[in-house]
Amino acid sequence: MKFIIEPGGTMSGTLRVPGDKSMSHRAIMLGALATGTTRATGFLSGDDALATVAAFRDLGVSITGPDDGVVSIEGVGLHGLSAPANNLDMGNSGTSIRLLSGILAGQPFSSVLSGDVSLQQRPMGRIITPLSLMGAMITAADSGRPPLEIAGGQKLRGIHYDLPMASAQVKSCVLLAGLFAEGRTSVTEPAPTRDHTERMLRGFGYSVHTENGVISLEGGGSLRATRLDIPADISSAAFFIVGAVITAGADITLEHVGMNPTRVGVINILRLMGADIEVFNEQEVGGEPVADLRVRHSALRGIEIPVEEVPLAIDEFPVLLIAAACAEGVTTLSGAEELRVKESDRIASMAEGLTILGIRNEVREDGIVVHGGELGGGSVRTFHDHRIAMSFAIAGLRAKEPIEILDCDHVATSFPNFAALAQEAGLGLRIES
Ligand code: S3P
Repeated sequence: MKFIIEPGGTMSGTLRVPGDKSMSHRAIMLGALATGTTRATGFLSGDDALATVAAFRDLGVSITGPDDGVVSIEGVGLHGLSAPANNLDMGNSGTSIRLLSGILAGQPFSSVLSGDVSLQQRPMGRIITPLSLMGAMITAADSGRPPLEIAGGQKLRGIHYDLPMASAQVKSCVLLAGLFAEGRTSVTEPAPTRDHTERMLRGFGYSVHTENGVISLEGGGSLRATRLDIPADISSAAFFIVGAVITAGADITLEHVGMNPTRVGVINILRLMGADIEVFNEQEVGGEPVADLRVRHSALRGIEIPVEEVPLAIDEFPVLLIAAACAEGVTTLSGAEELRVKESDRIASMAEGLTILGIRNEVREDGIVVHGGELGGGSVRTFHDHRIAMSFAIAGLRAKEPIEILDCDHVATSFPNFAALAQEAGLGLRIES
């Protein structure tokens, strides 16, 4: 499936993008480990979150839905999972495989986790190292890539782990393994990353301490089922935010967007570039801040992106680089080597597409320099990466010629109705198979 974007589109109206991917995964995982029935609304029916649903069904958990964003999970308690009959297929989802590995490392049964071509390229050594220190037995394929074989019946012990990279997936993996470990498990991060695991554990009645940058919990407690209202994913909203900012006359309102301070880097960075983003109806829903956003066209200027914003906007750089291409002057991204191990090498994927569209850029090991300019048309590759596909679709709002985006099937991993919502907002998007 490919997208063709015709020039001359706009972004207007009021819309709600689908539910937060990170929270959707965690809702299933924690709901499964709780006692009682957890009901979540706003659940993301994207392929990644559905891979987590399927895995927990394979682990013996009864899950109803998702139906119109509503999902019910019959928790089996911390020690109630059962051995899967087959290998667990995590599809394209790094969050599923890394977080689930933490849970499965503490089970009495063995399991094997695998995924698609993109997932099979992604590094798992980063979770194998701390889990092994806790006493887990995990075997990976070549150079620490999936599939992962996790041996059952290992006794886990709590550790303190200093994360070598800013990764919420690694942090969450260690904390989830800590639920099954003897004693206290704690982590420190080189920079704050999304804290949905910590917040949601507390929502399930599990005590998690955060003090002086150390996040810790005691193993062997219990989780109580709860109700969850999952807000719209700011990472999906980002495509419409940038789309509106770069398009003359645009004016869009995005409803009920998750505004967790560890996720709002995209707004902070765009504001530094001169974007007009109004935040209103701010409220707290189930322990997570939520707001509506009104975004209008603004003249952007190139900036040096502050390194402390990088982990807070880690999934939004593909579309932020489109904003950089539309800005006056030069934008420099550094300290972002983690982008090289996402669903694709996002520095290389974006550099290739930007060059094809006539935007001058220089690739660095830990980032990229983008020179604002005139976007032309052309045919760009996505490298099986949903966010690369959607970012170049948004570039079409400013391109002088049509953009063809090859291989867009993976858009469904995080944003299954992207094409329909973008068309509704005014993007000249056509799907071709
Ligand atoms: C996620 C953490 C981030 C992010 C991913 C979702 C999570 O990955 O890129 O899309 O839900 O914990 P890293 O932990 O690899 O930075």
